[in-house]
Amino acid sequence: MSRNYFIAGNWKMHKTRSEAATLAKELVAGLKDGKHKYLVAPSFTALETVSAIVKGSNILLGAQNCAAEEQGAHTGEVSVLQLKDVGVQTIILGHSERRHIYKEDDELINRKMRLALKHGFEVILCVGELLEEREAGKAEAVCKHQTVEGLKGISAADMPRVTIAYEPVWAIGTGKTATPEDADAIHAYIRSVVSELYGVDAAKKLIIQYGGSVKAENTAALMAKENIDGALVGGASLKADTFIPIAKF
Ligand code: 13P
Repeated sequence: MSRNYFIAGNWKMHKTRSEAATLAKELVAGLKDGKHKYLVAPSFTALETVSAIVKGSNILLGAQNCAAEEQGAHTGEVSVLQLKDVGVQTIILGHSERRHIYKEDDELINRKMRLALKHGFEVILCVGELLEEREAGKAEAVCKHQTVEGLKGISAADMPRVTIAYEPVWAIGTGKTATPEDADAIHAYIRSVVSELYGVDAAKKLIIQYGGSVKAENTAALMAKENIDGALVGGASLKADTFIPIAKF
C-alpha cells in the first residue's frame, strides 16, 4: 500500500500541563524510531507545553477543535490564529463528541474545515454513525452525508491536507470495536465518495483512520485491511504504555 499509516492520539479533556508534559516526553522517546506518521492532540491548555516537547520530533501537534471565525467577540472559543501561534499543525474537526454533545452541525464543521485549510493546517474530519443509524441500515448514508457536507467548497489542491477518521459513535469509549471487515467496508465506501468528488487519484491518496476502542490487541488486524490507514485513539492514547504499542504496530 502506498499510503503511510497515521496514528493519532486524541487526549480529549484529560491531563494537566504537567501530566501532559510527562506523557509527551515519554512518547517522543518511545516513538523516535517509529515508522508511521504520529500526532497528539492535547487540550488547549496543554498545547503550548506539549508543543515545546514535540518540536523537532516525529510527532505532530494537533488541536481538538477550533472556532469557525478568525477572531472577534466569541467568548470561550479558540481561533486558528491562536492555534498557529502555539505550533499546532493539525486540527481535529467534527468529532462525534462535538457533533452529538455540543450539537455542531455539518455547516459549522464545514466552515471550520475551510478556515483551517485556508490557514495552512492539516485537518482530520471525523465522521461516523450512531448505533441506531447502523441498526437502521443507514451507516453508509450518514458517513456519505457527513463527508460530502464536511468537504463542501474544499478544493482538490487542499485534499492532501485532509485526513478522514471513521469513528462509529457506538464504538467510542465503549470497548466495542467495529470488526476489521465492517470498518474496512465503510472506509472503502468513504473512499468511493471522495473518488466521486475529487477523482480516483485523490481518493487513493486519502488517509482514512479508524477510531473507536482501538487498543494494541486489535490494531494490527484493523491496519491489515486495505482501506484502513491509521487510527484515531482516545482512551488508549492517555498512557505511553498503551499508546506506543499501537503506534508501533
Ligand atoms: P476511544 O479510543 O476511547 O474509543 O475514543 C475514540 C475517539 O473518539 C478518538 O477520537
